Amino acid sequence: ATLADKAAGAPKAELHIHIEGSLEPELIFKLAQRNNVKLAYDSIDALRTAYAFTDLQSFLDIYYAGASVLLTEEDFYDMTAAYVERALADNVVHAEIFFDPQTHTERGVAIETVVAGIERALADAEKRGMTSKLILCFLRHLSEDDALATFDAALPLFDRYKHRLIGVGLDSSERGHPPSKFERVFAKARAKGLKLVAHAGEEGPPSYIYEALDLLKVDRVDHGVRSIEDPALVTRLADTRVALTVCPLSNLKLCVFDDLTKHTLKSLLDRGVAVTVNSDDPAYFGGYINQNFVETIDALKLSDADVYTIVKNSFDASFITPAERNAFI
Ligand code: HPA
Ligand code: ZN
Repeated sequence: ATLADKAAGAPKAELHIHIEGSLEPELIFKLAQRNNVKLAYDSIDALRTAYAFTDLQSFLDIYYAGASVLLTEEDFYDMTAAYVERALADNVVHAEIFFDPQTHTERGVAIETVVAGIERALADAEKRGMTSKLILCFLRHLSEDDALATFDAALPLFDRYKHRLIGVGLDSSERGHPPSKFERVFAKARAKGLKLVAHAGEEGPPSYIYEALDLLKVDRVDHGVRSIEDPALVTRLADTRVALTVCPLSNLKLCVFDDLTKHTLKSLLDRGVAVTVNSDDPAYFGGYINQNFVETIDALKLSDADVYTIVKNSFDASFITPAERNAFI
């Protein structure tokens, strides 16, 4: 078998997937009809044609429009169940899934509805051999007060879904919204014993990665590819084994790199950084996790040992507890 086949067949963990980014155009239209939501695109093809992004913001505008069809518990169940099918097909045995509650509460959808629908699909997935965790992400283009209110509203859910909802993250428009803006809400999450992650160094500068590490005290950095611009930061990431959840096709589609052969994943790996490969928003960026592996292996001429390390990193960097890990083996 080729290395691409071996990577595709390997059991793996996915650590950077926004569940709203798994919403395929077909399902967007089905839910729009079911819920009588009006879309700005009159066909699946017209919507798909709009998926030509120039930067993060041009993607986010369409991503939030797509998420506007999600209203009921059943909608969140259907979206998550569809992701589970694609993940199982790619041999994902463990996923740590982001969701954006503010995108939904802003439209009058209760946070309980969001989590209940996602949770029901993930409980079903567990019976089929895929374990998972959920990470609540704050939208960084909104205020910290909004994030604090969201955190307070989610407090009962962190208790009710203790086995699943284990952390908080930070996503949306990076430039102009540094991690320091969210220091207080991350301190509250840390005090509660939650895991902490943040998108940093996707479009933003290395200083945002330092802020995520030093001010938010994150356990992992999402993307982090611009760390390569600061050699001392690369050394620190390597020495501390703080993992990066890298999303190659996302970076390509959002023009972080103009060609996949220019991607910094291999350089970071060679410098000892714990990089992983993930899909980010697979319905928008041209593929699920295996497609990311296949194209990255080809573009960066990854070796068998590189791929083995990346897959092993995905489990080592996961928030699976020791007790859960023993149940795996
Ligand atoms: N970056 C920031 N916010 C996001 C992303 C991303 O890649 N995907 C979904 N929300
Ligand atoms: Zn992301």
